[in-house]
Amino acid sequence: MVKPVHQGSDLQNKMDEAATLRTLNAFAVDLMSIPTVEDLFWYVAQNVVGRLNFLDCVIYQANDAQTELVQVAALGEKNPFGRSILNPLRIPFGKGITGQVAESREAIVSNDILLDENYIADTKAARSEICVPIVCGNRIAGVIDSEHPAHNAFGDAELEVLITIAALTGAKMMQLAEADRSKRRYHDLVEAHAQLSQEATNRRALEAELFTARKLEAVGRLTGRFAHEFNNLLTVISGNLEFLEEDIPNGIPAETLAAAQLAARRGSEVIQSMLTFSQRTRLSPEVAELNDFVKAFCAEPKNVAAELVQLALGRDIAQVNVDLDILRNVLSSLIGNARDAMPDGGIIHFETANITHSLRDARQLSSTLAPGHYVRLSVSDNGEGIGQDSLQQIFDPFFTTKPVGEGTGLGLSMVLGFMQQSGGAVEVRSDVGKGSTFHLYFPTAPDLERLC
Ligand SMILES: Nc1ncnc2c1ncn2[C@@H]1O[C@H](COP(=O)(O)OP(=O)(O)O)[C@@H](O)[C@H]1O
Ligand SMILES: [Mg+2]
Repeated sequence: MVKPVHQGSDLQNKMDEAATLRTLNAFAVDLMSIPTVEDLFWYVAQNVVGRLNFLDCVIYQANDAQTELVQVAALGEKNPFGRSILNPLRIPFGKGITGQVAESREAIVSNDILLDENYIADTKAARSEICVPIVCGNRIAGVIDSEHPAHNAFGDAELEVLITIAALTGAKMMQLAEADRSKRRYHDLVEAHAQLSQEATNRRALEAELFTARKLEAVGRLTGRFAHEFNNLLTVISGNLEFLEEDIPNGIPAETLAAAQLAARRGSEVIQSMLTFSQRTRLSPEVAELNDFVKAFCAEPKNVAAELVQLALGRDIAQVNVDLDILRNVLSSLIGNARDAMPDGGIIHFETANITHSLRDARQLSSTLAPGHYVRLSVSDNGEGIGQDSLQQIFDPFFTTKPVGEGTGLGLSMVLGFMQQSGGAVEVRSDVGKGSTFHLYFPTAPDLERLC
């Protein structure tokens, strides 16, 4: 059944053989520079038809499951358009001559396919067909198929040539797959390295945060003890001043007593801030709507004076459970700072929003914040902003950039202590020359119950 096509003189046969060998050699050399499997298939089809004088060439690739062949390249009369296959043929393993070759991994040469039970009739009748498997390691990678309108068109020579082409194609596919694997491995390595660097950076940031937290805790303990003792002394002083007020002794002017009382009150405010910072205050939380609270706070002229106030209060803001008296001090302190940062006036912007804090975005929000639901109250100004150096220290007790007598450096440390004692957190964002925003995170009322 298998017959040579070219039946000429011995010399003619030898010359044909030499030419074919040269073509195969050139083909093998050119293969080295083929970059992708897709290019490879088309390159093989072009050589089979253009250089090796087959009338047509169709290449099918096997799927990963090794159950189906899909047409990936076709050249010849049936596909004159070059690199475009409009409707790629799909042939199950075992079906037709190509399917048989894929399943058995054995080449088939059929020289009168009209008599072949495996032949799948086509629009353009062919009489001879040759099909060889492309094997890649222990898998079938595809098949190379060629048809001819005459019978007895293919013989040993054609079979040998196509088997050689298929072997070279299989070897090239293995090489491309290996190159692909090492590219992926390299990519994975680069990614792993980037991840490691990111983790190292995160760890350093966490260590810095931990250091700050420990430092504040130590200062807080000291301040707490001191403030507690001092508070007792102040209570005695204030009590006695009140006692004197009822019956001012002769020779003491009323102003002297008033000045002493004012100083005691100021002292008491400072001590209260210190106690709040060191979380020694007994909180009296109540369930509240922050939007209502902010509206009422801003409506009082003594709270916000010359500044322009903007409100951007979110809808359906969850309820919180918070000590409103201390929250009033907190807002006053933030507004006082904003006012100092805008000596020529400016805008104070209040905003509320519901926030869900999950472990995934742990780096975006304060790492001291437990995952859960929060209401965020933000207070922004368009003042001078805070430089990078100060930003690290503004929550430290007694840190102030204001002249002696104007700043105590206790406002923000009081805000920090209060927010932590309330199960929340405070964060600051600032751009020098543009302004600052203080975000206060309050656990929602149901979440707070869950946390306690
Ligand atoms: N809104 C703000 N804009 C610019 N700087 C601010 C702002 N809030 C706080 N600061 C800086 O943080 C420092 C500490 O603030 P705070 O603890 O309230 O103490 P004080 O107001 O007594 O200085 C301030 O001295 C100031 O440098
Ligand atoms: Mg202040």
